[in-house]
Amino acid sequence: MVSTRTRLAMGALVGASLLLAACGGGSGGGAIVNGKGCKHIAFLLPESATAARWEAADHPDVEAAIKKYLPGATVDAPNAQGSAATQQTQAQAALTAGACILVVAPVDSTAASAIVANAKSKQVPVISYDRLIYNDNLNYYASFDGFAVGVAQGNYIKDHLSKYVTAGHENLVMIDGSDTDNNAHLFGSGAHSILDPLVSAGTLKKVYEQFTPGWSNATAQTEMEAALTAQHNDVQIAYVMNDGMANTVIAALKAKGLNGKVLVTGQDAEAAGIRNILLGDQSMTVYKPIAKLADSVGKLVAAISNGTDTSSIASAKVKNPNGSAQVPSVLNAVVEVDISNVASTVIADGFVKKADVCQGVPAGAGGVC
Ligand code: BGC
Repeated sequence: MVSTRTRLAMGALVGASLLLAACGGGSGGGAIVNGKGCKHIAFLLPESATAARWEAADHPDVEAAIKKYLPGATVDAPNAQGSAATQQTQAQAALTAGACILVVAPVDSTAASAIVANAKSKQVPVISYDRLIYNDNLNYYASFDGFAVGVAQGNYIKDHLSKYVTAGHENLVMIDGSDTDNNAHLFGSGAHSILDPLVSAGTLKKVYEQFTPGWSNATAQTEMEAALTAQHNDVQIAYVMNDGMANTVIAALKAKGLNGKVLVTGQDAEAAGIRNILLGDQSMTVYKPIAKLADSVGKLVAAISNGTDTSSIASAKVKNPNGSAQVPSVLNAVVEVDISNVASTVIADGFVKKADVCQGVPAGAGGVC
């Protein structure tokens, strides 16, 4: 005869194993191997202070796309707020809770390698999101063409510099993103491929270039202030890697009465950046249609879960700078935006709203406000 106590204990055991199966096996391994049949996805976000996109677009778009292509899926989406250590802990917590596919936008391309190793030991596939993780066991990479972002920024400078430089005044300042984000290197190499020949030819003179730890917008302002001081305000071109930093670089220029007189680049087409373009303080940005990236991630997650072919979705191959594996990748195209096409691109797509970009902007600017 089975005692009440034993029956209770057995019931608890059965309950626990059912829970484990539903959660994908937890750390002990279970029904879910390599994402097949997985419905519990974790999307690890890197930050929210340096660019509006992560919480304003990536988070809701990716969650919606996964649920669209994989009905019944749940998505946990913790944000590491710029701390690689926090992200590590969040990844471990997600795995413990039974997440069986990880989508990771790493805080740090090198540190996040440990997340891939941890997930692999539990047969959980990892999709590196927007930023590449340096680990040859990475399963997929979904992003934009980062080199093309830098080329678009560089080409804009090349095509418009004659409006800003005069003989003896061709000074170029470069405010780069975080050294620990692979994207900053991709953007930089794209931009340098266009700008370096101009520097060699003497068309431009590079007077300052600095990585900005954590893409900190406040640090970008300090960097621009230092460059202006060193050059006695004689700066014509500010290559700035994203809109968040461009906004504080513009604040530094404003303090010297130089806003609108210096060519300033950006990236992300965030509302504040588009507003700066409509005001004439920022010259261009690069629009990365996040809805498209999210859509490809939704399809990829569903294919992994359904055990169907992923090669038509992740058809490109990307190698990390320190590795040898060719990671199956999806790389979306980017769009160069300035005042001439704000209306037909980011406004037409609904990426930013008129109400958000037109505050304090003169009526008629860019045919938008
Ligand atoms: C992203 C940019 C973003 C930057 C700062 C990069 O990895 O690709 O879109 O502006 O990080 O968050």
